[in-house]
Amino acid sequence: MSSLSRLCGVVCLWIISGSLAADGDRTGYFGIGEIATPDQISGWDIDIRPDGQGLPEGEGSVADGEWLYEAQCAECHGSFGEGVGRYPVLAGGQGTLSDGRPTRSVGSYWAHLSTLWDYIHRAMPFTAPESLSDDEVYAITAYVLYLNDIVDDEFVLSKDSFLSVEMPNARGFYRDDRPDVSNVRCMQDCLVGALVVHSSVMGFSSQQADVLEPESEMSAESERLAKAKSTVESLCGICHTSGIGGAPIVGDSAVWQPRLEKGLDSLIDNAIQGYIGDAGVMPAKGGFAHLSDEDVSSAVEYMVDQSR
Ligand code: HEC
Ligand code: HEC
Repeated sequence: MSSLSRLCGVVCLWIISGSLAADGDRTGYFGIGEIATPDQISGWDIDIRPDGQGLPEGEGSVADGEWLYEAQCAECHGSFGEGVGRYPVLAGGQGTLSDGRPTRSVGSYWAHLSTLWDYIHRAMPFTAPESLSDDEVYAITAYVLYLNDIVDDEFVLSKDSFLSVEMPNARGFYRDDRPDVSNVRCMQDCLVGALVVHSSVMGFSSQQADVLEPESEMSAESERLAKAKSTVESLCGICHTSGIGGAPIVGDSAVWQPRLEKGLDSLIDNAIQGYIGDAGVMPAKGGFAHLSDEDVSSAVEYMVDQSR
């Protein structure tokens, strides 16, 4: 060890132990940092929740919002929320979400009013974030709603009227129901090489299903059966061959017996509509939306036949 590092060994230890002693009143593992004061926390704790939790007292009308918006927002977002240049559009686009190029605006896309209040309060105007008073945020938010035809020109937004506003796309979001998000954790005797089901696998499988479709001149009935067989083997089988996520295994008559007692029709219904049972989640049509009701119905018949 060089004399320099030996010196550091001594000096550094002395510095560390000195600082530990001096900061003995500080908590935490290393004696560093400071405990945030309630004042400091309140500066950061400004989020608003969808149920209105976190909103300050105050109010603002569409009429007040109009001139505030013109003065502070229109230069970038346009007088009608149409967006100037490449600045974001704030209004319009209703009904475009399924288009190739959807317009995702407050009116067409946003699910919660709290997001709008919070965004404006926290981040806008772009060059002077957090410069607006609470009443100004209420007023400008009300005006952006008005630009989207969500409220009328008499509307006053406040903590109390907040929950009366219904965002057009409030019901447009739903829980991710793709099969791979509802898998059950496996801790023991897990399948080796089990297929992970995600969209690319599905895309591949559905093509495969088309390829497997017979082209010979079979009777309509045998063609239907062959198609059912290939649907079950290549698509439904992703879960129902190995039992992923609790799916009843095709051919295992013991697990199918109690299900058969419900009657074929209710099994078919559950396969088409989707179904959550004690064993797991059966996604609607197994997650393969392109299958027709008849395809699924034949697939269930085939499964049941193989499992008696
Ligand atoms: C100098 C230009 C400018 C001004 C002025 C301005 N904004 Fe913005 N605004 C932006 C930019 C840029 C973004 C996108 C920021 C990002 O994506 O990080 C944005 C984003 C937004 C969004 C989110 C849009 C979306 O769909 O994601 C809202 C809402 C918004 N601004 C409202 C306002 C309001 C209300 C005002 C006036 C108080 C305002 N802005 C003033 C530039 C501006
Ligand atoms: C992502 C996995 C998965 C895929 C893919 C899948 N299933 Fe299922 N299926 C399940 C699970 C899990 C259950 C058991 C649900 C329960 O009872 O808790 C189930 C149950 C069923 C049942 C029994 C329903 C009842 O009421 O008892 C039928 C019938 C069925 N699936 C048919 C199909 C068909 C037909 C396909 C293909 C089009 C398919 N499944 C694709 C996971 C899947």
